Amino acid sequence: MTKPLPIAVFISGRGSNLQAILNAIESGLVSAQVKVVISDRPGALGLECAQKNHIPAYGLDVTSFDSKRDYECEVVRLLHIHGVELVVLAGYMRIVSETLLQAYLNKIINIHPSLLPAFKGLHTHERALKLGVKFSGCTVHYVNEGLDEGQIIAQAVVPVLPSDTVETLSERVLKEEHRLLPEVIQSIALDISRR
Ligand code: GAR
Repeated sequence: MTKPLPIAVFISGRGSNLQAILNAIESGLVSAQVKVVISDRPGALGLECAQKNHIPAYGLDVTSFDSKRDYECEVVRLLHIHGVELVVLAGYMRIVSETLLQAYLNKIINIHPSLLPAFKGLHTHERALKLGVKFSGCTVHYVNEGLDEGQIIAQAVVPVLPSDTVETLSERVLKEEHRLLPEVIQSIALDISRR
């Protein structure tokens, strides 16, 4: 049996994708271990989920650092301390800069609630509904210096119904996020274990 892939999960909010990753690990679908959870918002609800699962969790307030570079240096220090090999952005609402990108080159993935390259950035579901798209979904991609850019790894598609509201559409997409993100982590874990 191969060693579970040591991963970090980055969040900014409620952490339902974090919980989905933990569930998939618990049920043996994903061979990974969440070594550390990092949030750029000290009050993020998802930090409680990490603590309940006895995972080291850090809420770092970017404004308490002299620069974004200093913030990311601290993040990289924590990732190294915890022996992280893959960084998973799961609702982390901040653009990753050079310090972190260089330290984890091609080892950072992100989940975004749209079919990229459509609807990068915020308020994806509002914009999708307003434009009248008939399909939406979610994308897991490698992270680069751009906003929701980088090589696409996997996507899941859901229909958009005429009766949809932001709530019903986001719920349908979120269900797919919770399936897709653990699947991608598992496929990367398998890839790395075969090297
Ligand atoms: C998810 O829908 C995720 O795709 C989105 O934030 C939500 C976090 O939910 N991420 C982005 O918009 C990143 N551009 P969660 O905290 O319950 O996992």
